[in-house]
Amino acid sequence: MFDLSLILKVDPINPSMEVIKKAAEIIKKSGTVAFPTETVYGLGANCFDKVAVLRVFEIKRRPPDNPLIVHISDLQQLDLLVEDDLTKAEPLIETFWPGPVTLIFKKKPQVPKQVTGGLETVAVRMPSHPVAKKLIEVSGVPIAAPSANLSGRPSPTSAQHVIDDLYGLVDAIIDGGETPLGLESTVIDLSRDEPTLLRPGPATVEEIRKVVPNLRIPDFLLGKSQPERPLSPGMMYRHYAPNKPIVLVIDENKLDAVLMEYPDAPIVCPEEMARNFYGRRLIIMGKLSEPYTIAQNLFKVLRSIDTVLADVAIVVGLPEKGILFSVMNRLRKAASRVIE
Ligand code: TXA
Ligand code: MG
Repeated sequence: MFDLSLILKVDPINPSMEVIKKAAEIIKKSGTVAFPTETVYGLGANCFDKVAVLRVFEIKRRPPDNPLIVHISDLQQLDLLVEDDLTKAEPLIETFWPGPVTLIFKKKPQVPKQVTGGLETVAVRMPSHPVAKKLIEVSGVPIAAPSANLSGRPSPTSAQHVIDDLYGLVDAIIDGGETPLGLESTVIDLSRDEPTLLRPGPATVEEIRKVVPNLRIPDFLLGKSQPERPLSPGMMYRHYAPNKPIVLVIDENKLDAVLMEYPDAPIVCPEEMARNFYGRRLIIMGKLSEPYTIAQNLFKVLRSIDTVLADVAIVVGLPEKGILFSVMNRLRKAASRVIE
């Protein structure tokens, strides 16, 4: 493999076809390409090419039983991947595709087991980002792509994050600037009797229930239990963790005690709360009044904690509704201590 990664800068709205063709050539020749989507950067390979898919696992140091999402650019490609009758999926597909929702179906035999971590199901998403769409279209194959970070690190929301984790390991990195949503897609399992949320994301529970009123939210997403492997392999691993420990404070009555326990720790909080922490070092995560800004900044903030001179950071808990339910899911995983 190469020691250098080709960096290809593009306009995210109107990507140059020359760049897309170059990246698509790499995909067609069993290579790997990191590319922006509307959620986070993905690390892509031809989903039918076992060697390329194994390389993705190797690059990320990802456990082989943690399956990848397959990205498509049109509904015909869905037929190559899934066995199921799509009636059940139609309302979700019509409402959320292209966009930040991943759906899990029974897989067709030709989808390699390497992609699905040995499972009989496959996760599929149709991204809306022009770079991702064009790359899949011109490659002519569905692209298997996990988030383009080293396993266990926060997902990348800029090309610089990808460079920090994967430079020299991946064949090319398409730099399309910051990803607009900043949080990985919402994952819904449709392979079971009841549609089940496996990962909250930019499409909120409230929005999904408008089209799927019987959406089930398993206990592990409410912090009540550990996930079982067959349901959601990815949820078992510690995630998004910066190298420094994070203390997540959910019970605000305990905040003062935590502030005293860690007098030098920077505080990560929304802009509206900044004045409560006069004299302390602050990392602002966005605005509570515009909660999507918090999602957008989240992984950048988690990465920046590593560069602050302190042994530990305190993160203030947020109301677990709408997009902030998804943000809190990631913060709980990143935290080494949760105070509630
Ligand atoms: O927004 C996103 O989803 C980004 C961009 C690149 O599309 N991708 C992403 O992929 O976040 P990754 O691999 O980091 O997360 C995929 C999640 C994991 O938690 C994995 O376990 C779960 O989806 N998953 C994939 N296939 C599955 C399956 N067949 N059954 C259950 N969970 C599955
Ligand atoms: Mg990931």
